[in-house]
Amino acid sequence: MSAPDLTAVHSGLMDRVYKRQRHVYDLTRKYYLLGRDRMVSELDPPAGGAVLELGCGTGRNLILAARRFPDVQFYGLDISAEMLATARQSIARAGLSGRITVAQADATAFDAQALFDRRQFDRVFISYALSMIPGWQRSVSAAIAAAAGSVHIVDFGQQERLPGWFRSLLRGWLARFHVSPRPGLVQEIQAAAAAGGRTVDFVSLYRGYAWLVTVATPTERP
Ligand SMILES: C[S@@+](CC[C@H](N)C(=O)[O-])C[C@H]1O[C@@H](n2cnc3c(N)ncnc32)[C@H](O)[C@@H]1O
Repeated sequence: MSAPDLTAVHSGLMDRVYKRQRHVYDLTRKYYLLGRDRMVSELDPPAGGAVLELGCGTGRNLILAARRFPDVQFYGLDISAEMLATARQSIARAGLSGRITVAQADATAFDAQALFDRRQFDRVFISYALSMIPGWQRSVSAAIAAAAGSVHIVDFGQQERLPGWFRSLLRGWLARFHVSPRPGLVQEIQAAAAAGGRTVDFVSLYRGYAWLVTVATPTERP
């Protein structure tokens, strides 16, 4: 028997998780995927530039960013065909199909040139996806490799300054959706950034509920 294709297995899992959820995703997640709007507002891409999101889901962040930064082209990839179906509908409804392109791919191993006909982006961001990606460390390296400028990451923190009972409740609930907050997230990003001569800025939001990490090139310095 041949080895299972891990990308296909994970893609199938994500499709099952989101098959129904995608219809209520944007409405419900706005109450608990905190820090996304701040991250989008800090992207500040150059006019005429290009921005890539890994794990773009319903396209909610891409649409927000495209409205905020009108002279920029946006690209998103996601492993779930179900999520991308919603993303394509929402992007078309927003009249942004000419400025946002999405494609199906695994954020741990993708070929941006084949998907989007470009290798590098002025900004790359990842919003609440690393906590769902097996081998998420490879996505951190891939994001840094694809970015000519800064990389922006927001995800669940360790709830380090919240009560223990809240942390337990949240963790139990997130596990039902195959979400695992990554304790080594900041250290992993720091190591990958240092290898590429980049610097890292880390902000813990809402008592550690969410973490916001920005990787800058030497000329940018967050
Ligand atoms: C919690 S959702 C976040 C969606 C969006 N970034 C947001 O902030 O609303 C996580 C997304 O990551 C995607 N995902 C999970 N594993 C992935 C992988 N290996 N490669 C690409 N996308 C992945 C899921 O399909 C899902 O759309």
